[in-house]
Amino acid sequence: MGRVEGKVAFITGAARGQGRSHAVRLAEEGADIIAIDLCRDLETVNYPLATPEDLKETVRLVEEKGRRITAVQADVRDAGQVRDALARGIAELGRVDIVVAQAGIAGMKGSPPMQAWSDVVDTNLVGSINAIQAALPHLEAGASIIATASAAALMAHGIVQEPGKDPGGHAYVFAKRALSQYVHSLALNLAPRNIRANVVHPTNCNTPMLQSEPMYRSFRPDLENPTREDAEPAFYVQQAMPVPYVEPEEISNAVLFLASDESRFVTGMQLRVDAGGYLKWHDFHV
Ligand SMILES: NC(=O)c1ccc[n+]([C@@H]2O[C@H](COP(=O)([O-])OP(=O)(O)OC[C@H]3O[C@@H](n4cnc5c(N)ncnc54)[C@H](O)[C@@H]3O)[C@@H](O)[C@H]2O)c1
Repeated sequence: MGRVEGKVAFITGAARGQGRSHAVRLAEEGADIIAIDLCRDLETVNYPLATPEDLKETVRLVEEKGRRITAVQADVRDAGQVRDALARGIAELGRVDIVVAQAGIAGMKGSPPMQAWSDVVDTNLVGSINAIQAALPHLEAGASIIATASAAALMAHGIVQEPGKDPGGHAYVFAKRALSQYVHSLALNLAPRNIRANVVHPTNCNTPMLQSEPMYRSFRPDLENPTREDAEPAFYVQQAMPVPYVEPEEISNAVLFLASDESRFVTGMQLRVDAGGYLKWHDFHV
């Protein structure tokens, strides 16, 4: 018997990275999957997003685990698209018990700058809320909502930079913090119905978002065109444990715990999977 046997999980941003890993891990433990992803690039995001082929690969990997999956190209910024994709999934798979709202973009140095701000807020904050709120009418007692924020949201360095210098980068921290607050309030209001809501805060995670030019530049601002090799040693700064990043599967294990009945009385939790990164930052700033 799998740890989420018979449940159905709705996952945004499921074509690659952490979203794909969550889909595969939850399927391994018995869940069917409703997957959505944008599957195209955005002008203000300076690295490629997932492709339709990536989403097909997630489908293949979930089916390989013997579970069912519906996969639709949909934009979390558009509540109507999210509702339609979810309705399709529920029509095919019968229900939804788990929501993993985790599609996200990093908008550092995105241009035009205030469009980058809007895209990040619309994707990381409004998009997560769209996914959760599309699911709310379908959730019953025992359901679990998980939103992905970021350990960076709990640290202040994104906030204290020069005003107006990098609205896309600033929006990332703002959106993740606001999402954390949203889930806090949601958890309180859903508790009497035995529905839970929690936030996972990953540190650096080894996905295409981290392994991207804008991220290399933000970790090595001293270099003009930093490469992966230049950035790798700098990645360690985010964690207290001696690792440059964690693998997506580490985040998936936290998501699986929060999705399963093992955590039935865990709600409103801000769960850091950050190899001690927050502790390290906190120690420097108190
Ligand atoms: N990688 C890290 O270091 C890190 C650290 C902390 C938090 N996070 C967060 O983890 C989450 C997953 O990111 P990842 O690391 O897997 O990156 P990723 O870029 O590999 O995956 C993000 C996915 O979201 C999809 N997406 C983007 N905009 C979308 C939209 N409007 N509608 C639907 N799908 C959309 C992308 O196509 C992509 O498949 C994000 O919310 C990110 O902010 C990442």
